[in-house]
Amino acid sequence: MKGVPNNYIVSLALMALACSVASAYDPAPLQDFCVAVNTSTEAVFVNGKFCKDPKLVNANDFLFQGLNIPRSTANPLGSNVTLLNVDQIPGLNTLGISLARLDYAPYGLNPPHTHPRGTEILVVVEGKTNAVAFAGLSSQNPGLIIIANAVFGSNPLINPDVLTKAFQVDKNVIDYLEKQFK
Ligand SMILES: *[C@@H]1O[C@H](CO)[C@@H](O)[C@H](O)[C@H]1NC(C)=O
Ligand SMILES: *[C@@H]1O[C@H](CO)[C@@H](O)[C@H](O)[C@H]1NC(C)=O
Repeated sequence: MKGVPNNYIVSLALMALACSVASAYDPAPLQDFCVAVNTSTEAVFVNGKFCKDPKLVNANDFLFQGLNIPRSTANPLGSNVTLLNVDQIPGLNTLGISLARLDYAPYGLNPPHTHPRGTEILVVVEGKTNAVAFAGLSSQNPGLIIIANAVFGSNPLINPDVLTKAFQVDKNVIDYLEKQFK
């Protein structure tokens, strides 16, 4: 090792030691499940959430029945979304997942929207006319922002001067669109 400075070798050795204690995987979860409850009575506090006492947890905390039943699509959009998140299935708390059933009438649609806290995968399970799809989402509560409602149906309304300029249309067009959400 002639010509290699000693402090170089020392720092190399220190770096090797530092790497040997590095962790390359997610820390183990603190609990297998944390069934959400809204109050602290009869609950334990784990990892930032109120969890139901594990001794009181039962299969119903992870159960939702009736997802096989078709939903009514008799509405202006011709669709019906049944979202099952942590509010419907409290056992989903901390598991980072939720699901949805989507029913479509012929030419029905689920309007453009985003889920700010989740990504979604959707599979159409049946139907060319009436269709049924199931979705899985990467959050216990993915959130939902329907674009048209957020822009034209907000409360309070967005200033019409902003919308007329943003969409490059007359104010009466904006008035008309806003009226659809009243
Ligand atoms: C969705 O379907 C359910 C059950 O058929 C019905 O009660 C509900 O009103 C429907 N929602 C919409 C938006 O049509
Ligand atoms: C907790 O509150 C949410 C929202 O108000 C409600 O939908 C849900 O049913 C409640 N969960 C329990 C376990 O009481």
